[in-house]
Amino acid sequence: MSRIAYVNGRYVPHRQASVHVEDRGYQFADGVYEVVPVVDDLLVDEEPHLDRLDRSLRELRIAWPIRRAALKIAMREVLRRNYFQHGIIYIQMTRGVARRDHPFPKLAQPAVVITAARRPRPGAAMMEDGVKVISVPDIRWGRCDIKTVSLLPNVLAKQQAREAGAYEAWLVDEDGNVTEGGSSNAWIVTREGELVTRPSGHEILSGITRRSVLQLVREEGLDFVERPFSLEEAKRAREAFVTSATSYVTPVVEIDEAVVGNGKPGSIAQKLYAAYRGYMTGAGATR
Ligand code: PDD
Repeated sequence: MSRIAYVNGRYVPHRQASVHVEDRGYQFADGVYEVVPVVDDLLVDEEPHLDRLDRSLRELRIAWPIRRAALKIAMREVLRRNYFQHGIIYIQMTRGVARRDHPFPKLAQPAVVITAARRPRPGAAMMEDGVKVISVPDIRWGRCDIKTVSLLPNVLAKQQAREAGAYEAWLVDEDGNVTEGGSSNAWIVTREGELVTRPSGHEILSGITRRSVLQLVREEGLDFVERPFSLEEAKRAREAFVTSATSYVTPVVEIDEAVVGNGKPGSIAQKLYAAYRGYMTGAGATR
């Protein structure tokens, strides 16, 4: 079955889906994106993802290229035309096509692309055995809260992780604290049993999965605190895990060469994964 993409108002075969060479997303990374999970044909956390998209656009002063209601219809149409049950919807919006000049163009029409990709659910082995992460210096800019397509430091970090046989790279700031993963948020459970994740701010992307998992944490009545934690504290932790639209809640069992806890996924990570799985097809889902 051939894939279909949405490009500025048209549904086109994925192979022919293209934008102009002078699109500012291509030339300046002048654009933003969202990844919305699809589980059992349902969109997960659609509204919070679109709210964050709205915020990213506002921060960069890019106008919506399409009305929000029309975008929601197009997302569903892309999903319908791609025939799959599990995967992601990818939305990208850029400042549009203009003669190359750094400041904002006066006349460019912002551009929108929607693609859909089939993805298997995160494998059972990953959830049962946990994954390994490595640490790398966080060399990104000062506005990591904006979900821009400017992802070069993340790309380099994730490549380094792949070459090390790790699932994710944890980015470490100048104070030795973990900011987040290359494409996920980072969490630990300390030896004292405190669940910790870094607070939202300019240094991290305020993850939608993070937000939903925090809500489940409250519902489960678990102790938690939002504060920075150091790489050293993470290595000594009882548990660690990452959250994202594509990893859900994935337990971490090794950080660099340090084994986390007893080397097996921790009970809090497992409990939150189970709760989030229910949430994805329950309270978090829209059709
Ligand atoms: N990435 N931090 C970064 C740097 C991310 O790129 C992501 C998501 C997250 C988690 O956010 P959310 O829970 O909203 O997915 C945190 C997506 C999945 C990506 O770039 O593919």
